[in-house]
Amino acid sequence: MTTTHVNVALGASSYPILIGSALLGAPATYAQAARGAQALIVTNTTVGPLYAQALAAALVPHHAQVRTLALPDGEQYKNWETLNLVFDELLAHGGDRKTTLYALGGGVVGDMAGFAAACFMRGVPFVQVPTTLLAQVDSSVGGKTAINHPLGKNMVGAFYQPKLVVCDLDVLKTLPARELSAGLAEVIKYGPIHDMAFFDWIEAHIDALRTLEPAALAHAVQRCCEIKAEVVGQDERESGLRAILNFGHTFGHAIEAGMGYGAWLHGEGVGAGMVMAAELSRELGLVDAAFVERLTRLIGRAGLPVRGPVLDAADNAGRYLALMRVDKKAEAGEIRFVLIDGPGRAVVRPAPDALVRQVIDRCCA
Ligand code: NAD
Ligand code: GLY
Repeated sequence: MTTTHVNVALGASSYPILIGSALLGAPATYAQAARGAQALIVTNTTVGPLYAQALAAALVPHHAQVRTLALPDGEQYKNWETLNLVFDELLAHGGDRKTTLYALGGGVVGDMAGFAAACFMRGVPFVQVPTTLLAQVDSSVGGKTAINHPLGKNMVGAFYQPKLVVCDLDVLKTLPARELSAGLAEVIKYGPIHDMAFFDWIEAHIDALRTLEPAALAHAVQRCCEIKAEVVGQDERESGLRAILNFGHTFGHAIEAGMGYGAWLHGEGVGAGMVMAAELSRELGLVDAAFVERLTRLIGRAGLPVRGPVLDAADNAGRYLALMRVDKKAEAGEIRFVLIDGPGRAVVRPAPDALVRQVIDRCCA
């Protein structure tokens, strides 16, 4: 398989995304990005045993010292306490301003290692080596880094760009099926918000993606990275356009926080959340029922939930609304939703609470 390069064009902070096979363990992959005498691979207790040794061997030609830190695995550990383990490790072993952090794992590791890199000595270089589909098509690209707060998802963080993103498709072979489906939620989202031709393609190739057919995977990761790079290149800090990448996330984040981090996977929340956001778009007259049905069918075929959970038996919609008011897109307590304004086009706007309540009542199991 040939390696594809997608550029994230951000002036002096531009960087390449490499997509292909046998990249993770090849020293040449890191030649342009590796800096400093020391490297710290930040991974977790699941991914570390699978891939850290191969990555470390590939980094030895570039750094005099290569260390590995395995964090506990899970969304529930995406917090201050775990983040501090990275600083403990760096300070205990003489980390300096040129120490490069390598984030080896899914979005949880990527977001935390990226945030650690943004903070340590006010910023050290970092490289994303995403090992989940979700991280390859979304979280490793664009420089959003964060940890969760008990009251809200990704509430504490920084915009901080990596020097390089390495999407080695081979690592997806060890990914559990449920995690692959979670990644497909972020693949699917790019269709309704930006590219319906890609949506058509996903519909035709969803089974090939679920069985990890190499050409289908390579195309999906490349197209998602191209779209994300285009959006981030226009609006790095989400002053406007970038918010469209959060389609389904306002409802999804409420599900994740409301169920307790880790109970529903991020992609599962986004799956059910996209159905709710599409339903809300229909209620507002922006799309028709056929579009909502088509999107719902594809989300189901990806192995994702199409209905949200009940977060509060007494007042479910009220609980969703309370959680959504701490969404980062909210302004003065008013929730702003990413809605589909005709297939392939997204808009960010508020919606009347009464309508949102109706949608939640209809879309939750
Ligand atoms: P994750 O990082 O928790 O990884 C999922 C699970 O798969 C974990 O148990 C992990 O150990 C395991 N795993 C990872 N790679 C594996 C492999 N190759 N083989 C076997 N097991 C593997 O979850 P995720 O879905 O990758 O990421 C979700 C996180 O990403 C959320 O915290 C979300 O907020 C964040 N996110 C961030 C952005 C962003 O722009 N920064 C975008 C989307 C999502
Ligand atoms: N995943 C949303 C963003 O990067 O903006």
